[in-house]
Amino acid sequence: MKIAVIHGPNLRLLGRREPEVYGSATLEEIDDALLELGEELGAAVEIFQSNSEGQLLDHVEELMDRVDGIVINPAAYTHTSVALRDGLAAAGLPFVEVHLSNTSARERFRKHSYLAPMAVGTVQGFGKESYLLGLRGLIAHLKRP
Ligand code: DQA
Repeated sequence: MKIAVIHGPNLRLLGRREPEVYGSATLEEIDDALLELGEELGAAVEIFQSNSEGQLLDHVEELMDRVDGIVINPAAYTHTSVALRDGLAAAGLPFVEVHLSNTSARERFRKHSYLAPMAVGTVQGFGKESYLLGLRGLIAHLKRP
C-alpha cells in the first residue's frame, strides 16, 4: 500500500509558527512520525510540501496512478482553493483532510473547507497527532473489504 502525505503552505515553519496554535512539533518531527507509523502499519509513505498552489496541483496529478490514497493538510488552501478541490476530484484518490488546529473553533473564514465534502474523513485539533490519526484512518479505510 502506498500513501502520499501532502503539506500545504506555511507548514515548513511549524515549530516556529504560532506555536500556541499549531504546537511545538517541527515538520521534520511530524514527517518522521508518519514514516515510522506507515512502516508499522505496512504502508509506504511518501511526503511532499509546497507553498505553491500550482505545485500542489501538479503533484496531485502525478500521484494519480501511483498511490492508493492521500493524507493532506491543505493549510490555507483549504478555505480558498477550488483548483485543489477539482484536482483531488480529478485524481479520484481517497483522501483524509487533516489540520493541526481545530479550524471550527477559530476565525469564521476557517470554518469552510472546499475539500472536506469529498474526503473519506477529516481530523483536526490534535496537533501532530491529527496527521497520525489521519494516516491510521486512511489505512483502515483502504484495508476494509
Ligand atoms: C491549518 C489550519 C488552516 O486554517 C491554516 O491556514 C493553516 C494550518 C492547520 O493545520 O491547523 O495554515 O491547516
